[in-house]
Amino acid sequence: MKNITDLKTVRLRDDLNAVVILDQTRLPAEESYLELSSAEEIWDAIYKLKVRGAPAIGVAAAYGIYVCSRQIQAASFDEFYTEFHRIKEYLAGARPTAVNLVAFLERMEKVVLDNVSATVSTLVELLHDEAITIREEDAAACRRIGEYALSLLRPGMGILTHCNAGHLAVSEYGTALAPVYLGEERGYGFKVFADETRPLLQGARLTAYELHRAGVDVTLICDNMASSVMQKGWVQAVVVGCDRVAMNGDVANKIGTSGVAVLARHYGIPFYVLGPTSTIDKQCPDGKSIIIEERAPEEVSEMWYTHRMAPDDIHIYNPAFDVTPHGLITAIITEKGIAYPPFEESLKL
Ligand code: MRU
Repeated sequence: MKNITDLKTVRLRDDLNAVVILDQTRLPAEESYLELSSAEEIWDAIYKLKVRGAPAIGVAAAYGIYVCSRQIQAASFDEFYTEFHRIKEYLAGARPTAVNLVAFLERMEKVVLDNVSATVSTLVELLHDEAITIREEDAAACRRIGEYALSLLRPGMGILTHCNAGHLAVSEYGTALAPVYLGEERGYGFKVFADETRPLLQGARLTAYELHRAGVDVTLICDNMASSVMQKGWVQAVVVGCDRVAMNGDVANKIGTSGVAVLARHYGIPFYVLGPTSTIDKQCPDGKSIIIEERAPEEVSEMWYTHRMAPDDIHIYNPAFDVTPHGLITAIITEKGIAYPPFEESLKL
C-alpha cells in the first residue's frame, strides 16, 4: 500500500501562527493547502467544507482557537476569557451536527477555566499543549478503531462505504476506512465500493481519491446503485463514520447513510458504524435530539453542473445528515472496543 500520511488534513504551524489545512474543495484535481490565521478564516473553512469530517473539524477548531488565543490582547484573565469565549462560541456555530466540533472546543475552554490564576502567556502555552493532545488522541483512536474493526472483517471481502470517513476526515487514517488501510497493509485484498454521496460528492471526490491514491481496490458507484451491488452479492460488510452518536445508539452521519442501513438489513449484510468516543454525545438521549444541518439549495440544483439542473424557484430540501436508527446497526466500533446492542448498556462502558 502507498502511504497516505503525506496528505496532511490539518496541521498546526506555530511559525506561521496558522492552522494549515488541505483544501478538500479542490480535490481531486489539486492537493493545495490553506493557511488560516483568523477566527473568520477558520469558521469559513469549516462552513464551506474546505476541512470536513467530524474529528477533522474538531481538530481544526482546537488548533484554530489556540492560534486566535495567541492574538488576544488582554491585561487580565477576565479580559482574556471574555474574548476566548466569544471566539469559541463563534467557531462552535460553524456547523451544528458533528459533536466533535463543540466537544473539542469545550476541552480547550476547560483548560482556560481550570487555570484562572495563570498568566495569559501560560494559558496560551497550555492551550497549545491541549490542542496537540487532542490531535494525537484522535490519530491514536483511529488506529485502535481500525484494529477492532479489522477483527470483524475477512480477507477478500467486498466493503461498501458512504461519504468519506477516511484519512481526509480525521487526523490520520480515518475511522470507517482505518480497517481498510490496515487490511491493505496486511494483504487482505478488500474490494471497496464507494457511494458517490450526493450532493457534495465526498465519496467520489474524497473516498475514491484517497483509496485509489493508496492503491486500494476501489469502485465508485452512484448512491442509487448500492442496492444493485448488494443484490449481486458483492458486499459483505458496510462501514460508515458518524457525526454524533446518541446514547441509545442512534447515529447521525452523512445524508443517505440511513438508506444504506435499510438496504444492508434487507440483504443481511452487517452494518458497522466506526467513530472515536469523542463522537458519542452523552447529553443526547436519541436521534430525535440531534440537530441536522441544512445547506444551500444550490448544492443540489447547480453545484458541479455547467448550468442549473432544476427549474428556477423549485422547492429544494438539502439536509446534510440523517439519523440511522440503532435497530439497523450491527455494532458501533470505537477506540475502546466493539459495542453491540443494546447500546444503552454497551455505549456506557
Ligand atoms: O459534511 P461532511 O463531509 O463533514 O460529512 C462527513 C461525514 O458524514 C462523515 O461520515 C463523518 O463526519 C465521520 S468522519 C470520520
